[in-house]
Amino acid sequence: MRVGLMGYGRAGRAVARVLAEDARFELCWIARRHAGEGEHMDERPDVPVVGLAGTDLNHWFDTHPVDAIVDFSEADTLFLYGEELRRGGLTLVSAISAYSDEHQRYLRELAGQCRIMSSPNITLGINFLLMAAKLLRDFAPFADVEVVEQHFRDKPEVSGTARRIAESLELEEDRITSLRVGGIVGHHEVIFGFPHQTVRLIHDSIRREAFGTGAAFALLELSGHAPGLYSFDDLLMEKMHNRLLEGRAA
Ligand SMILES: NC(=O)c1ccc[n+]([C@@H]2O[C@H](COP(=O)([O-])OP(=O)(O)OC[C@H]3O[C@@H](n4cnc5c(N)ncnc54)[C@H](OP(=O)(O)O)[C@@H]3O)[C@@H](O)[C@H]2O)c1
Repeated sequence: MRVGLMGYGRAGRAVARVLAEDARFELCWIARRHAGEGEHMDERPDVPVVGLAGTDLNHWFDTHPVDAIVDFSEADTLFLYGEELRRGGLTLVSAISAYSDEHQRYLRELAGQCRIMSSPNITLGINFLLMAAKLLRDFAPFADVEVVEQHFRDKPEVSGTARRIAESLELEEDRITSLRVGGIVGHHEVIFGFPHQTVRLIHDSIRREAFGTGAAFALLELSGHAPGLYSFDDLLMEKMHNRLLEGRAA
């Protein structure tokens, strides 16, 4: 699958490394706001980095065709490449966490012709934790549930991921406990307290490359779907459903 990556910042660089090393993908180019003359991916001279400011995108897509775009730039970039996405019927995996209602409307419109996955949290691990936590909450609504998040000393706000976990489990935000200690990258834990046992679901972030693994998962899963707008949850739930059916049939 030929892929173009939007964004070459902190997350984009890690995602580029994962996609470039994965034989199932051909990372054809990376786009950022401004690129230097002849710039290329740090580790791969054959992957050009283009600056979108001042580039004729129509011409770029014609001369550098891809099957899919992965977006780790910023929300408004969607309006720059949206029509190219539609023109080519391309697949989009977007990690942008701050889409407005206007962006969301445009995404839904594009999803008439394109396969799109948009998720404010793109790691396979956190999405798996969310799915497992929702299932257990469903099976055991009587259990006490608490969310604990731990991050580096200077992170000021409650983790957005922890808020999302609480929301999906229909917990008030005061069920989240935040610890700020040293250099922890990101730790999320959901604790289910039963009368005679305790279940803990734990996710620890290690490196930003996890975003790339999540994007790769979404690209491959989307390829088996019809055009439409999907969340990471949708893709994961459907995969689990199919696995369970396969298990039953076997
Ligand atoms: N869903 C998730 O799990 C997840 C995880 C991580 C990050 N993200 C999202 O990914 C995005 C990037 O995060 P980051 O930490 O990597 O930010 P960052 O370090 O600030 O990098 C942003 C990148 O986007 C590029 N960019 C900005 N506007 C652009 C435009 N109009 N056209 C093309 N490129 C443009 C920038 O180009 P220049 O380099 O030229 O300035 C830069 O390379 C954010 O929206 C963040 O919320 C989501």
